Amino acid sequence: MTSPADLLDLATRIAREAGELAHRRRREGVTVAATKSAAADIVTAADREVEAFIRAKLAEARPGDGFFGEESGAEEGTSGITWVVDPIDGTVNYAYGIPAWAISIAAVEGPAETSAWTALAGVVFNPVTGEMFRGVRGGGAWLGDERLSVSEVGEAGGLVATGFGYDPETHAPALAQLARVMPIARDVRRIGAASLDLASVAAGRIDAYYERGTHPWDHAAGALLVEEAGGRLGGAPGGRPGNGMVIAAGPDFFSRLEPLLDYDR
Ligand code: IPD
Repeated sequence: MTSPADLLDLATRIAREAGELAHRRRREGVTVAATKSAAADIVTAADREVEAFIRAKLAEARPGDGFFGEESGAEEGTSGITWVVDPIDGTVNYAYGIPAWAISIAAVEGPAETSAWTALAGVVFNPVTGEMFRGVRGGGAWLGDERLSVSEVGEAGGLVATGFGYDPETHAPALAQLARVMPIARDVRRIGAASLDLASVAAGRIDAYYERGTHPWDHAAGALLVEEAGGRLGGAPGGRPGNGMVIAAGPDFFSRLEPLLDYDR
């Protein structure tokens, strides 16, 4: 049995190497390889190459583990550990040269496709800033030597980040929901990378993040960071961030934000 700390070390090393590869490819020029759910939902050649790189490195180091990646799908393992990977979270930012994209790698126990997992270790790495957010179950969330802790929100309201997804039918309800949130918000941000939204909540750089329609690879590592930084997570199913909604905030602000959001509780 490998310890969560060993899983974290492996994820950290591979995320750094994958980040260098993605950054190099970015400088060489971005090629859009395909679109997914909508024309705006793009996949670059680098998304695929970086995921293949991460997958190969993990298989070499831990051949019995499962894998669940944004671009290449799921493969069950035999060890009980599955790696949930977004090779480039914030692909649109990546394509436009906005420095808010990240490599997200989490090691989870349990069935990854349903979100009914327990994340043991996870990293969110922004190769442009060099920031490596690391979380290990029971061992805290860290940025370098700094132990992370969610914010406390005062009278001015919370700085709230959200995302809108790619399905046009969801946009009007999302804007109506945002209008309900605005009275408790100091201001609103749309960072464009769910993993960095969650890492930012963990670091206390923003007070809350919510979004409907995220996928396991978007939030597996970031959700662990939030939990380990003392934050609360919500969403479906079962109060865990599932495909319906992810909500993350410090405990007090969470209890003000969560009742304003639409999702199956
Ligand atoms: C997307 C980003 C975006 C969020 C979408 C995600 P991708 O991930 O995290 O901020 O709004 O829900 O799908 O496609 O760039 O890996």
